[in-house]
Amino acid sequence: MHRLTNRQILLGITGGIAAYKSAEITRLLKKAGADVRVVMTPAATEFITPLTLQALSGHPVHLELLDPEAEAGMGHIELAKWADHILIAPASADFIARVAAGMGNDLLTTLCLATEAPISLAPAMNQAMWRDAHTQANVEALKSAGYTIWGPDAGEQACGDTGPGRMLEPTDLAARLAAEFEYLALSGKTVFITAGPTREPLDPVRFISNHSSGKMGYALAQAAMDAGAKVKLISGPVNLTPPSRVTCIQVETAEEMLAASLEQIEECDLFIGAAAVADYRPVAIAEHKIKKGNEEIMELRLVKNPDIIATVAKHSHRPFTVGFAAETRDLLHYARDKLVRKQLDMVIANDVSVAGIGFNSNENQVTLVTPEDATSLPQTSKRMLAKQLIEQIALHLNKQDSL
Ligand code: C5P
Repeated sequence: MHRLTNRQILLGITGGIAAYKSAEITRLLKKAGADVRVVMTPAATEFITPLTLQALSGHPVHLELLDPEAEAGMGHIELAKWADHILIAPASADFIARVAAGMGNDLLTTLCLATEAPISLAPAMNQAMWRDAHTQANVEALKSAGYTIWGPDAGEQACGDTGPGRMLEPTDLAARLAAEFEYLALSGKTVFITAGPTREPLDPVRFISNHSSGKMGYALAQAAMDAGAKVKLISGPVNLTPPSRVTCIQVETAEEMLAASLEQIEECDLFIGAAAVADYRPVAIAEHKIKKGNEEIMELRLVKNPDIIATVAKHSHRPFTVGFAAETRDLLHYARDKLVRKQLDMVIANDVSVAGIGFNSNENQVTLVTPEDATSLPQTSKRMLAKQLIEQIALHLNKQDSL
């Protein structure tokens, strides 16, 4: 089921008594980490309320093709593009007939025409309707058009008949859907990543900060998401757009970054501290703009900020914890020191005295330091490097999990 993490599933519900089971399908898919959006035909709403599906999916249910309000949010073409997979459960005989005929006379049939995502149908109907030559011909037509048909099961039916036509059970459908996706290196894992600088205010208009661009942390968030993880990116102020499917929490100060890092830390499997956290902050923030005085020298009183990654590494629900070490000399010595002092599992060390890599540049060259060894990776773009780092981290993490 871990394969469903981050997957965007469009669940179509058509009119049939089995529609009450669609609530359970939604719950199972959400539990497995999928983002679920529900589309219901008008007949489906006679069997189960959109409100139930809205509460379970966490999104408003899509009901109408030509609803200006819904189109202003996520229009039908956008919805068709959004889906990684469309599952229609239950699929009624009428719906199967309409979609087999290539009709687009409601939102769900239109989405089937407009999407490039795979479509699976879980038929549910009376056994005679399922056996009917029209339905059978329609099902064959859909199979030839590339649709997958899951079920139906045979057995006792709501109408009292016995025979084929029962919708497959929600657990079975969820497992079949999960099997449609690849198992990736971080499938099912929850990853927190800090990125960018922090800003420590002096007064309402000034702050202490640094030149961190956030590029490395954002690239790591993208790579972790691509590797199947659920990602929370805790970002200081940067000029970057968070990757889609990543939850981005925007923060300013180190203290805010710490609070966002510790929130739901029990669920975190891997924590990567890529942020350049300000070591110190002003002892007090002036209520009003500090005025220029006559003195030539002005002194600021600073207090040490909390060490975010060290706090995470000492937590009772400690995730696999990876830090960065940006050094200008004795790279390995300081990286090893950081590993031990902050109780980290891995340190990604880079020499920031070399021009063109590290801070604010697009490329980086790093050495991976673990308690056992140190491995240098070749200089490359932060995007490529992030992919390699996530692969390496996943290997260590999965090795630790299997112990
Ligand atoms: O101690 P130093 O700043 O060199 O350590 C760098 C590593 O520690 C990075 O992973 C950085 O994100 C993390 N760090 C932190 N909180 C701090 C300082 C650094 O999480 N206050």
